[in-house]
Amino acid sequence: MSTYFKDKVVVVTGGTDGIGKALVDALIDMGAKVATCGRHHDKIYRLQSEYPSAYLHTMVADVSNENDCRRFIETTVNNFGGIDILINNAGISMRALLKDSSIEVIQKVMDINFYGMVYCTKYALDSIIERKGTIVGVSSIAGYRGLPGRSGYSASKFAMQGWLEAIKTELMGDGVHVMWVCPGFTTSNIRNAALNKDAVSHGDTPMDESKMMTAEECAARILKAVRKKKRTLVLTFTGKRTVFMQKFFPKLADRFAYKFFFKNGELVK
Ligand SMILES: NC(=O)c1ccc[n+]([C@@H]2O[C@H](COP(=O)([O-])OP(=O)(O)OC[C@H]3O[C@@H](n4cnc5c(N)ncnc54)[C@H](OP(=O)(O)O)[C@@H]3O)[C@@H](O)[C@H]2O)c1
Repeated sequence: MSTYFKDKVVVVTGGTDGIGKALVDALIDMGAKVATCGRHHDKIYRLQSEYPSAYLHTMVADVSNENDCRRFIETTVNNFGGIDILINNAGISMRALLKDSSIEVIQKVMDINFYGMVYCTKYALDSIIERKGTIVGVSSIAGYRGLPGRSGYSASKFAMQGWLEAIKTELMGDGVHVMWVCPGFTTSNIRNAALNKDAVSHGDTPMDESKMMTAEECAARILKAVRKKKRTLVLTFTGKRTVFMQKFFPKLADRFAYKFFFKNGELVK
């Protein structure tokens, strides 16, 4: 097992479910000190009861609220003395066509997926610069290819990648590493929690979650890429194929995306 993460302070936003939870478990297992947050008190309470507070700092915080992010980062620095790695993982998806949905759906997704990252990164930045640390964005294949029914989600991930690329270049002289990782379909709660046209969680998944990459494998691949200071990481065969098609055959990618997500003119996935 690598000793790279031993005694490093790692912030993982949204660590109570899915990929974030798998990142928290793997990091604590490798000797890191981890801080995480989420909106639901019961899930935070359950997670904190699994680990001593010397290894895990938790806070109920909504990353779309700037003040919550400021307090979450401040309490992490107070508890652990600083921050080496920030993994902006907290995210939410949507499944609704633009013609049916309220603007609120897109606003909510952008507030969490994009502004949540901006707030946490801004408040953690001084400490990360001091420690010549790493900033990670958990993006998606939807950050390379706009996906139907997920227009706000795709926009948030395109925005994430553009913003991180810009600050990566700004921070080159400071010795800070900035990267983004793009999971493909991964078993998690994301499709249950995805917003419907009225900005309320769907509460079900249209896909067979058991046939996807596990959150544990996804987390292991992300942590390996962080350790190796990769620029970016694209996961799963379908994910890599989509990014390739989008780059070289975008018109064909439009047709494939339509075929994958629609049946008889209806959004199915
Ligand atoms: N699973 C996939 O197929 C997949 C594919 C590509 C990219 N991703 C990306 O991977 C990241 C993690 O997703 P996941 O699949 O692990 O989703 P998940 O199982 O739904 O977990 C999301 C986590 O984020 C937290 N969260 C959501 N909104 C939040 C907010 N406003 N403030 C603070 N925490 C919040 C959730 O806790 P609360 O609900 O308690 O707040 C939960 O702990 C996301 O950025 C997602 O876009 C996932």
